[in-house]
Amino acid sequence: MRVSILGLGNVGKGLLRILSDRGTSQKFREISGKDIEIVSVSDSTGTYLSEGLAPEKILDIKLQNNISRSLERMGMDGIFSMEPDVIVDLSPASKDGRRELGIYKKAFSMNISVVTANKSPLALHWKELNEARQGSESIFLHEATVAGGLPLFSLISGSVLPSEILEFRGVVSLTVNMVLSKMRTGSSFESAVKTCQEEGVAEADYKDDTDGVDAARKTVILANSIFGSSLSLKDLKFGGVKDAQSIEGWKDGRVKIVSTIRKENGELHVSSGPEMLLPGDPLLSLGEMSMGYTIKTNFSGTITVQSAKDGPIETASGVCNDLFLVGKEIVDKK
Ligand SMILES: NC(=O)c1ccc[n+]([C@@H]2O[C@H](COP(=O)([O-])OP(=O)(O)OC[C@H]3O[C@@H](n4cnc5c(N)ncnc54)[C@H](OP(=O)(O)O)[C@@H]3O)[C@@H](O)[C@H]2O)c1
Repeated sequence: MRVSILGLGNVGKGLLRILSDRGTSQKFREISGKDIEIVSVSDSTGTYLSEGLAPEKILDIKLQNNISRSLERMGMDGIFSMEPDVIVDLSPASKDGRRELGIYKKAFSMNISVVTANKSPLALHWKELNEARQGSESIFLHEATVAGGLPLFSLISGSVLPSEILEFRGVVSLTVNMVLSKMRTGSSFESAVKTCQEEGVAEADYKDDTDGVDAARKTVILANSIFGSSLSLKDLKFGGVKDAQSIEGWKDGRVKIVSTIRKENGELHVSSGPEMLLPGDPLLSLGEMSMGYTIKTNFSGTITVQSAKDGPIETASGVCNDLFLVGKEIVDKK
């Protein structure tokens, strides 16, 4: 399966690490009968030919900052000229999502599948993306856009199929909650953000995280993909670190940035912002680097899922799982 990777940062390098593992390639071959071949890689400096190179070799070149010296640079349309089966988008979320939207639309028009961890195009152009997919054979998966590596969309689309989801509540954005937690125990805002950057969980533009934009983007994606709405980021009021600090008692650790989506009398209620959690709320037990959610369903009961720790490698694992699903679906279709 020919794969083009956009973005070789924390998550991109994590994906290369996972793909370098022999167990991963063996499992992929068992599932799909194929090997994963990375035919091109892109970073902020351009797109480069990587056909024939093992993931560990590409990782090594990137870690040594040698991409532009060691690999052949390709033109603007480099990714498409390699005729990949899948484009994996691990590039930073752009403000308007237009750069990514253009790439995905072109991919769909060429029946190329897309796997993404990048929230921006989904939170801003959901309707347009779905329209562009109509009539295309592309598979579009975005597990890692919400709650990092925690299984969410694959769980909902594969394990509770007879049920209707009545409510979603979750802590799905790590940085904003981690910054709050660090500040509660005495860190300054700047040093809390710095720790998140060192852990590879904060966006380069960390204000998107701390202002609650990242959590709001995720809430929009959840509402659209699970509850069938067509919301955009501008439809949502949201809050971040500052709003959380304005709640009396925030320092006792019960205030978190929570995404809530609830169906009530046929209406959808969507919110993303600080909430004072009540005793007994499963979200209260989440650690500083963990995320989690609870879904209420009509037939499958109430299900809570949480991770002990979620960072770039766990996110990369969610991305890799999507690649496996694409490989499997391509085989199943034949
Ligand atoms: N970090 C996490 O735990 C996490 C969790 C969930 C989702 N995500 C999402 O996953 C994506 C990647 O996150 P990250 O933490 O890996 O980010 P990152 O460390 O900032 O890395 C971004 C990578 O994208 C490259 N890049 C910049 N502009 C590009 C462009 N126009 N085209 C292609 N590549 C470009 C950068 O190039 P250079 O190497 O040259 O700078 C870098 O390699 C983001 O959309 C983020 O929101 C991250």
